[in-house]
Amino acid sequence: MIAVYVTGTDTGIGKTLASCALLHALRGRGLRAVGMKPVASGCAWIDGGWKNEDALALQAAGTPGATYADLNPFALEHPLAPELAARDSGTEVTLEPILAACARLAAHADALVAEGVGGWSAPLSRTLMQADLVRALKLPVVLVVGLRLGCLSHALLSARTILADGLPLAGWIASHVDPAMQRVEDNLTMLRQRLPAPCWGVLPHAQHPDPVQLASRLQIPFLAE
Ligand SMILES: Nc1ncnc2c1ncn2[C@@H]1O[C@H](COP(=O)(O)OP(=O)(O)O)[C@@H](O)[C@H]1O
Ligand SMILES: [Mg+2]
Repeated sequence: MIAVYVTGTDTGIGKTLASCALLHALRGRGLRAVGMKPVASGCAWIDGGWKNEDALALQAAGTPGATYADLNPFALEHPLAPELAARDSGTEVTLEPILAACARLAAHADALVAEGVGGWSAPLSRTLMQADLVRALKLPVVLVVGLRLGCLSHALLSARTILADGLPLAGWIASHVDPAMQRVEDNLTMLRQRLPAPCWGVLPHAQHPDPVQLASRLQIPFLAE
């Protein structure tokens, strides 16, 4: 089973796009690949339940068949830090429902791509960090670096913290979110020199980025011939 936890240098920097592109890349290799958004804050009431945009995008990008509730066990209404959003919904994010949902998804898949919330150190609850979840799920981490001014520090801090949390950093993916960013290639060179993991690919800037097309930009080392 190929499984990764996708984190990022921040919120709004390309985690969902990269996760969907990864799902298409995995499916392109003939694998049954499912996406997961264990914890999502910011949901709309659709067809009798709270649903989140990211989770729906991951569901659409993955092999059909996964039920929404398994894909997104914590669908919190308000677009807030999970701890606050959960409190507003009268609940708390805990590990057990996520581990159970993940096991159900994994039973029918060859590959799993779980998208995190915000940046790496965004807490899931008063007592739960994303590192605790990733440790429990036993997943390697892929860091999405949103290419914009300031990303070097965010990328290096994230990589350092992931490793300090005792988790493997399997790779990183750059997404060119800010079209106004200058010296993109030089920044990519600096990231390649400094990040302690291989680059799985660069998603160029596009007005309407298409995860199907972007799948071809990714090299997944687990799949290397
Ligand atoms: N390479 C890119 N080119 C153009 N727009 C991008 C790119 N990467 C991300 N975006 C846009 O930035 C926004 C945030 O991306 P998203 O994948 O939702 O980030 P996250 O999951 O980290 O919050 C989206 O509107 C997305 O389309
Ligand atoms: Mg997202």
